[in-house]
Amino acid sequence: MSRPHVLDCEIVSHQEVSPDHHRMVLRAPAIAKDAQAGQFCMLQVQPGYYPFLRRPMSIERIFNDSLSILYKVEGEGTRLLAALSSGQSLNIQGPLGKPFPIDTSYTRHVLVAGGIGIAPFPGLADAILAKTNCTPEVIIAARTADMLLCERDFRQMGCAVHLATDDGSAGEKAFASEVLHRLAPGPGSVVYACGPMPMMKATHYICESLGVPCMASLEAFMACGDGVCMGCVVEANVEVEAERMVRVCHEGPVFDTRIINWEAY
Ligand SMILES: Cc1cc2nc3c(=O)[nH]c(=O)nc-3n(C[C@H](O)[C@H](O)[C@H](O)COP(=O)(O)OP(=O)(O)OC[C@H]3O[C@@H](n4cnc5c(N)ncnc54)[C@H](O)[C@@H]3O)c2cc1C
Ligand code: FES
Repeated sequence: MSRPHVLDCEIVSHQEVSPDHHRMVLRAPAIAKDAQAGQFCMLQVQPGYYPFLRRPMSIERIFNDSLSILYKVEGEGTRLLAALSSGQSLNIQGPLGKPFPIDTSYTRHVLVAGGIGIAPFPGLADAILAKTNCTPEVIIAARTADMLLCERDFRQMGCAVHLATDDGSAGEKAFASEVLHRLAPGPGSVVYACGPMPMMKATHYICESLGVPCMASLEAFMACGDGVCMGCVVEANVEVEAERMVRVCHEGPVFDTRIINWEAY
């Protein structure tokens, strides 16, 4: 895989899509050319040394000369990001990490998203549609109705969409993993998951019980984003360079969930 680019990129558009959730489109031809669904970028949210660390963000969608990110305001870094306007520029490093593997032998692709974990899935759905003969199904789960994102995007792609909320304000009153359990993907299926760790852990165990593989995009605190600092390790069931640890930024962020030691989380 080629080295990531570090580039000043123009903000083409920046919109609030729901309370505290924003979509930013960045003109970044070199990154867009190399990027694949599931990879991420490290964003310098403002010039200078504050905040010191770049913030990792999944690539939501990849276009000819641009890419989008979809993010939730969590703290200082994302608050600064949210204050930026179209026409300003942002320094980004990417693409980083391993993409979602897309295996054309599967006949059913089920995407399971919790909250802002939906972020890498529009690009994944684009890639599945482009590379296979299948139309993915998507489970979008969130705490409340106004936090359900991207429903229209997936419906425009022709995907079957299953909505779930914790409080029942839209779709089923259920967790994402419960909807997956009901859909019961069987032989020939593959599941992709992204969201809070407990959701991905539950999704992994359901997939294990159904005998279907699950590819999850994990989150961790990141400093370098490029495999050097070891700040982003998670416990694994396999040895990598004599350690039972994998780096989310380097071996991931997408992992076959059988590799992760879920008992530790
Ligand atoms: C590979 C990867 C992809 C991600 N993609 C997205 C995305 O597409 N959309 C989105 O909204 N969020 C995404 N995140 C999470 C996002 O990076 C954090 O929400 C963001 O860094 C918070 O920064 P902050 O300064 O606003 O918050 P802070 O005030 O610094 O922290 C608020 C909370 O955010 C988390 N956080 C802080 N710094 C980091 C960090 N460097 N890495 C991971 N978590 C951190 C912590 O849980 C912390 O409690 C991703 C994280 C990773 C690792
Ligand atoms: S963030 Fe430095 S090794 Fe992953």
